[in-house]
Amino acid sequence: TNRTFTMLKPDAVQNGHIGAILDKINAAGFKIVAMKYTQLSKRDAQAFYAVHSERPFYGELVDFMSRGPIVAAILEKDNAVEDFRALIGATNPAEAADGTIRKMFATSLGENAVHGSDSDENAAIEGAFHFSGREIF
Ligand code: GTP
Ligand code: MG
Repeated sequence: TNRTFTMLKPDAVQNGHIGAILDKINAAGFKIVAMKYTQLSKRDAQAFYAVHSERPFYGELVDFMSRGPIVAAILEKDNAVEDFRALIGATNPAEAADGTIRKMFATSLGENAVHGSDSDENAAIEGAFHFSGREIF
């Protein structure tokens, strides 16, 4: 087995899509091994997205990700990282394939409903950012 990390972003939560997105995650065969309803402080969001700190959209991204509650989760499935990124679709919902989570639920390029780790290494780092060992089952 193999794990990835996800966040249902503030737009998805605000728009009432938590249940529908979790349904799609379950239907695609992912097992939830950790989950919490939480909110990132501005500082948390800056740290989580530090890799993007030189990008022009960094400030907007940090403001958006800290503006309201999120759902953070660790998901387990064979080939989890790649399969989850296929399930969520392209970063820009306008370019995401039909049936993908971003196509169905994202608002815009910046407010794109879900996060999915881009490598096994980052999945482990991002999971550890949000969860202690006692919170992972
Ligand atoms: P994540 O799963 O959230 O990491 O998305 P990604 O891996 O598909 O995209 P990437 O890591 O390149 O960018 C991280 C996040 O920054 C995206 O999901 C968007 O929310 C945001 N983002 C990326 N490009 C832009 C942009 O041009 N403008 C704005 N406002 N936000 C952007
Ligand atoms: Mg990314």
